[in-house]
Amino acid sequence: MAKRTAQIGLSLGADICWPICYEGLLEVLDLNIRHGSDQVKVSCERVTIEPFNLAQPVKYDVVIDRLTHWYSVSREWIKKAVVLNDLYVYNNPWSLQSNEKHTSYAAMLRLGLAVPETWMLPPKAYENQDDLEVTLQKYAKMFSLNEIGEKIGYPFFMKPFHGGGWKGVTKIDDAQDLHQAYDASGTEIMNLQKAVLPHERFVRCVGLGPQFRIVNYDPGAPLHDRYRMEQGFLSAEHEEELIDIGLTINSFFGWDFNSAESLLQNGTWHPIDFANACPDSQVTSLHYHFPWLIKANLRWSIYCAVTDRTMHKNMEWDPFIKIADSDRTQAEKLKAYAAIANKRFETEKFRTFCRKNLSHLDELAYDFFGSDVMRDAIHQKVASLFPKHEHEEFTELFWNRIQDWRAKEGIHGDKDFQ
Ligand SMILES: Nc1ncnc2c1ncn2[C@@H]1O[C@H](COP(=O)(O)OP(=O)(O)OP(=O)(O)O)[C@@H](O)[C@H]1O
Ligand SMILES: [Mg+2]
Repeated sequence: MAKRTAQIGLSLGADICWPICYEGLLEVLDLNIRHGSDQVKVSCERVTIEPFNLAQPVKYDVVIDRLTHWYSVSREWIKKAVVLNDLYVYNNPWSLQSNEKHTSYAAMLRLGLAVPETWMLPPKAYENQDDLEVTLQKYAKMFSLNEIGEKIGYPFFMKPFHGGGWKGVTKIDDAQDLHQAYDASGTEIMNLQKAVLPHERFVRCVGLGPQFRIVNYDPGAPLHDRYRMEQGFLSAEHEEELIDIGLTINSFFGWDFNSAESLLQNGTWHPIDFANACPDSQVTSLHYHFPWLIKANLRWSIYCAVTDRTMHKNMEWDPFIKIADSDRTQAEKLKAYAAIANKRFETEKFRTFCRKNLSHLDELAYDFFGSDVMRDAIHQKVASLFPKHEHEEFTELFWNRIQDWRAKEGIHGDKDFQ
């Protein structure tokens, strides 16, 4: 029997709270898993940033990456590690680099999802470049903003095509708003997207591998209250549909960790924002849902590391497109996309693995999220975000919400893995 240690690397930026909890729980899990003829321990450490020789080995089996979307050195190290050293990383850096929010709209329209009508505009202003003037003079067509506004119909949203963090997002109610927002957009390339207003529901569906959590979301609330705490607020059919949408998006793009926003209007789910390279993982926004995220992240990363799961480096879109072009109904298509996703995410194999090897996670997590380490992790995160006079008040608020989770959910464990 071969003994080995599966190594997980955390490629981090400003993250404070979730790595503390991830590392703390991994340590008390104290894994020694029999996999095939191997006996596997699991350890983790934080990845450092330093010069590297492309030929040097990489000690990690899995890297959970939070930097790729903005820090190129880490992205290039990860890409070399995948290509040369068979690293498994989430999220897939090539997919993140090439599939902007805009592409995600196009792709899901192709699969028949109810993405609202979306346009792209050439930018209002440009950085000067050698060939710019001649190109624009030859090929840029004059256009009327008013005509486009009327075609889409007010209200709609103007937002950057690569999106994120609510930066540069404006609700446009009339032609005057449209001109003002376009003038202010500068060199940013903008999408215009028909508003799904009013809507019955605004839901965030967080996915980690084949695990999903559906959260009622209130975008108008202060940051610490946007993720609502109620569970079971949707019918089983709606929950299933949202999970199938999440599975479809995430497996289509090879994103193991993603968060999708969908709005329910007249019984139809409209996905409006579902390309999140680095989904929110902070206790100060997730609070009640934070323990779910830590547990889901542990399960998926441990599974990938211990089983030596092969990363899907290429997107393989054709099987989805074939279904899109078939004469199934849209509901049947969604089921067929989800079936591909469950195969790619090895959903059944993953659940069996967790039941067999991680059955002690529920109980340890219950204890951990009631411990001083948890309370201190909250305090550290709060101290980095809030003014000093609010530290105690907000630490207490988030702590109480997590204790609420322990009492309502933590005590029972996760039913998918029992
Ligand atoms: N088509 C739409 N219909 C209704 N509301 C919309 C639409 N598009 C955007 N919004 C509103 O604008 C907000 C920001 O838009 P969006 O989520 O696309 O941008 P973002 O920069 O990714 O934001 P975040 O990072 O906060 O999720 C949404 O949370 C929603 O409240
Ligand atoms: Mg959003």
